Amino acid sequence: MRKIEALQILKNTIEKAYCPYSNFPVAALIEGKNGEYAIGVNVENASFGLTVCAERIAMFNFIVNGFSNPIRLFLYAPTEEFTPPCGACRQVLSEFNPEMEIVIFDKEENFKLYKLSNLLPQSFNGENLKGKP
Ligand code: THU
Repeated sequence: MRKIEALQILKNTIEKAYCPYSNFPVAALIEGKNGEYAIGVNVENASFGLTVCAERIAMFNFIVNGFSNPIRLFLYAPTEEFTPPCGACRQVLSEFNPEMEIVIFDKEENFKLYKLSNLLPQSFNGENLKGKP
């Protein structure tokens, strides 16, 4: 998917963010190998720890839609600094593709490109469970 197209979808999607406590809306889009995609926004809760980030909602939405082979995450928060995925989201994304590409847009629509394996080296994965006692 072209970056400009992804950004347009993210800008429409971010309206749906439920963030009355932080007022920090985030939108995410996961793109699959064949061009299919799923979106997510952050959804907060009065019990703050139950908040779920946009990236995880997009990732789970992708799975619920029956898609596989996610190749890229597009992330948008209208902030001056680039907003990177939190540690918990990196781990969840890594379950489905540790080599996923990550494109982050800021408020000015500049972007930065990362590889998930650089943001989360040495992730815990299914292989680690094989050595269980
Ligand atoms: N948040 C995300 O949705 N994704 C990120 O990458 C960083 C943080 C959300 C969680 C919470 O609703 C708000 O942003 C402030 O932390």
